[in-house]
Amino acid sequence: MRVDYSRRAVDYDRTRADEATDREFWLRGIVEVGRVRPRERVLDLGAGTGRFANLLSATNPVVAFDASREMLQVARAKGRFECVLGDGHRLPFRADSFDVTMIVMVLHHLADYRAVLGQVARVSRRVVLTTSDMATRRLGILEEAFPTLLEVDRRRFPSIDRIVTALNDAGFANVEVEERRYVRILTPEQQLDRVRRKYLSTFDLIPPDEYERGLRFLEVELPRRYARGFEIAASFTFLGATR
Ligand SMILES: C[S@@+](CC[C@H](N)C(=O)[O-])C[C@H]1O[C@@H](n2cnc3c(N)ncnc32)[C@H](O)[C@@H]1O
Repeated sequence: MRVDYSRRAVDYDRTRADEATDREFWLRGIVEVGRVRPRERVLDLGAGTGRFANLLSATNPVVAFDASREMLQVARAKGRFECVLGDGHRLPFRADSFDVTMIVMVLHHLADYRAVLGQVARVSRRVVLTTSDMATRRLGILEEAFPTLLEVDRRRFPSIDRIVTALNDAGFANVEVEERRYVRILTPEQQLDRVRRKYLSTFDLIPPDEYERGLRFLEVELPRRYARGFEIAASFTFLGATR
């Protein structure tokens, strides 16, 4: 079953990090691991609502590319960068159109991520991507609330080893892998709001009654256990490579 982003578009930015975290964690990681220099041409593949295309467009020409018309509509309203609707398995760009392609939390949605990386190697000299490493991912109280959540994600997210192999097979070399630690503190109500808005796409993939039961559990347990703040301590893996 595929995740439907048309429904998520309106709420998407609200369920993500604040702009400071987007800049200090995500954009910084993309720029550092991708060695993105000002004025280089950037393709943001699976750009969604253009969170990073928008930030990066202050220094770089960016094309935000996505398969969801509704997500791109939100991106377009942010202005300053070009938006292109399409499927990453068939990138509608000439060879070497970009210096670097960024792919932020998208691989697990793709029917054939190896084929997409092949397309990326055709249109771009470098790539930087981010993902979750399922070998280390932990969700704390969310695992208690939603017992099959991690299992579903383990089937969706390719392992880091497989991504490295796919990058090499696509023609990229010098693959760098960096795990970066991410910490944010929310109020229990903020975290509940995110769960109610199904901020993890995996919530669409677990049984609906498990989701409802888990939400009721969190409505009681989040305020009870984390009255002084709910800490999200996670890590995300950034990979960079050059052709
Ligand atoms: C988790 S969101 C990430 C959005 C953005 N990169 C961010 O981090 O805010 C995944 C995005 O990938 C897009 N997507 C999924 N499959 C795609 C495909 N085959 N081609 C292009 N975009 C795709 C979805 O529409 C969605 O906007």
